[in-house]
This record gives sequence, C-alpha cells and structure tokens, in this order.
Amino acid sequence: MDIDQKTALKLVKPHLTNKRYIHTVGVMNTAVNLAHRYEVNTNKAKMAAIFHDYAKYRSVEEMREIIQKNGWDERFIQFNNELLHAPAGSYLVEKEIGIKDSEILSAIFWHTTGKANMDPLEKVIFLADYIEPNRNFPGVKEVREQAEVDLDRAVLMALHNTVLFLMSKEEPVFPETLHAYNDLVLEISKQNKKG
Ligand SMILES: [Fe+2]
Ligand SMILES: [Fe+2]
Repeated sequence: MDIDQKTALKLVKPHLTNKRYIHTVGVMNTAVNLAHRYEVNTNKAKMAAIFHDYAKYRSVEEMREIIQKNGWDERFIQFNNELLHAPAGSYLVEKEIGIKDSEILSAIFWHTTGKANMDPLEKVIFLADYIEPNRNFPGVKEVREQAEVDLDRAVLMALHNTVLFLMSKEEPVFPETLHAYNDLVLEISKQNKKG
C-alpha cells in the first residue's frame, strides 16, 4: 500500500502524544536526510520513520500478547517494557495500516534494540531515532556529527552509548544490541584494514 507523507502523518497522529508526534516528525526529517546521504530509498525511510513509534502507547498486555502469539524472542518481554513497542509496532502497522513492505517492517521491528547485520534502512531508522533534533542528552552531538560522515560509525557510537548507559544503571542489555555492537566493531575494523 502506497501512502503519501500527509496521509501517513494523519494516520499516526491519533496514536501518539503531542510530544511523541513532534519526535516522530523529527525522526522523519532526519531519516530522509540520512537516506539521501547514504543512498537508501527515501520513501521507505519516511514511512518507517513515521510509523516507528506507532505502538508506543498500547498496553503492555496487548504488546506482550503480540510478541507471544508471533513466537518472537521472549526476552523482549523479560528485559524491559520499553522494548515491546518496536516488534509490536511492526505487527500493528502491517495489520492496521496495511504496510506490507518487509524492509519497512523490519526497520520498525529493530529500531529500539538494533541487531546484527542491519541493512542500511534499519541503520538509518535506528540512528534517526537516536539523533533527531529534539533529542537532548550527553553525547548526542558527537553522534550527530558522525552521522554526517559515516553511517556505520555513527550507529556504533549510538550502540556504544546505549550499552554503557544500561550498564551504568545495572539494567540488562538486549542480546541483539550486543550483537549489533560486535558486528559493527568487526565490520569497521575490516574496513580499516582494507582502506
Ligand atoms: Fe521507539
Ligand atoms: Fe522513537
């Protein structure tokens, strides 16, 4: 199903708070910029960005049920309720909005945790969510600067900060987040040896 930007924003708005809607527009603009820079399909980046937080305000029970009935990793449920809206969102966006594109749905699914071997669209959405202009936390400026020159390094910085932050609070780190980190460290060191 093809939806234009205006329609997509209208569809997502009732599912978000005002603050979350402003964040979503920030992610959309950032994702489109990144998509241009790194040769990713800008329309897919736009749709994934607009709907990435679609499930943010669903009940924990509903989101847990979606994860269980799809047979997805139970650790989404065990680790932190903040993780639930990403996989639940990919399911609900397909079912309720009618988006079938597997790349868009996957970018929504992994936008919070990241995963190993992310494709460029997944990286763009993960990073745009982290650096959009309304975000304000220590270290975000450096990641924003890196995002202008090197997509992999910027994603790695975001993962690095996320892992350190969770560890500093003695919170569990989702295994795929660590896989994403390892994957990019190895990939970047390979690129450096070649270059
Ligand atoms: Fe999110
Ligand atoms: Fe978000």
